Amino acid sequence: MLVLGIETTCDETSAAVVSRSLTGSGEIRSNVIRSQVEIHAPFGGVVPEMAARAHVEVLDHVVAEAMKQAGIAYRDLSGIAAAAGPGLIGGVIVGLTTAKALALVTGKPLIAVNHLEAHALTARLTDGVQFPFLLLLVSGGHTQLVAVEDVGRYTRLGTTLDDAIGEAFDKVAKMLSLPYPGGPHVEEEAARGDAERFVFPRPLMGRREPDFSLSGLKTAVRLEADRLAPLTDDDVADLCASFQAAVVEVIADRVRAGARVFREKMGRGPSALVVAGGVAANGAIRARLGQIATELNTRLAIPAPALCTDNGAMIAWAGAERLARALTDPLDVSPRARWPL
Ligand code: KG4
Ligand code: ZN
Repeated sequence: MLVLGIETTCDETSAAVVSRSLTGSGEIRSNVIRSQVEIHAPFGGVVPEMAARAHVEVLDHVVAEAMKQAGIAYRDLSGIAAAAGPGLIGGVIVGLTTAKALALVTGKPLIAVNHLEAHALTARLTDGVQFPFLLLLVSGGHTQLVAVEDVGRYTRLGTTLDDAIGEAFDKVAKMLSLPYPGGPHVEEEAARGDAERFVFPRPLMGRREPDFSLSGLKTAVRLEADRLAPLTDDDVADLCASFQAAVVEVIADRVRAGARVFREKMGRGPSALVVAGGVAANGAIRARLGQIATELNTRLAIPAPALCTDNGAMIAWAGAERLARALTDPLDVSPRARWPL
């Protein structure tokens, strides 16, 4: 089965072709990603209207390139998938409408994919993960712990009460005058900083419910930065290192809490701890989660960084997983700005 996937929910325009065998293994045939980072960088965040316009300008070319790199014709496809939300609605409309048009002219089935579901299922493509697994979804817009029982069967165990973790990285970067998007820059600064210079709060540590809270930590960094201003290069590095150390410990504790609730609800442990979303690109977080997985007697599965951030392959794969279960959508399916798992 060959599926074309289109991703336009935020600031990456992407299209990909993925294959899925009858046994459920998958292969990426192409994955073309056109980032809009340079368009939004001067504004310090994604400007929705500009994002939608940029998707319109490049999507046709990106789709054509993905088909060309895969070396296939439209008639070879089994289905056409697009992220139908959640995300910035202008961009979602561009991607979904394009997929509808392609489905209409080719007569192939349309699959309207939930962007979060696509993040959740990527580890089945990259690591062959089996159900049920514990998912830590950490991106710029979402921070969730989810029990994934099957395609379409998700139980949210915990979520953030305020900021998403990626958002906290981005806000800390902004207050320290680091470029957008901040996550990778904070990580880079942290690598040469002293993580013990500042003792920042670790919100909700020890709580039974596997929820997250980041705003207190973010505020503590801001207060310290204000107190020290003007900041030296070492101050910036130490603030980043101390912030990241707090985030790493919070994540470790919250994942432990999530695994406990998973066991209670599912009557067994997870077959894997899966991490998805842009923040999963962070080396310190990846390393700590490796230890946690060992402690929980399960394996850690984190897709390669390029498949953790938004991309078309994850949409194509989720489309293939749904199509294999005959879960297709009518051509009048609506785009959704909000769409919880
Ligand atoms: O999944 P994603 O590409 O887009 C959303 O759907 O949000 O995630 C982007 C987020 C941004 O907040 C970015 O700063 C963060 O992931 N991020 C990182 C790293 N790389 C990306 N955060 C921490 N460390 C990183 N290395
Ligand atoms: Zn995403």
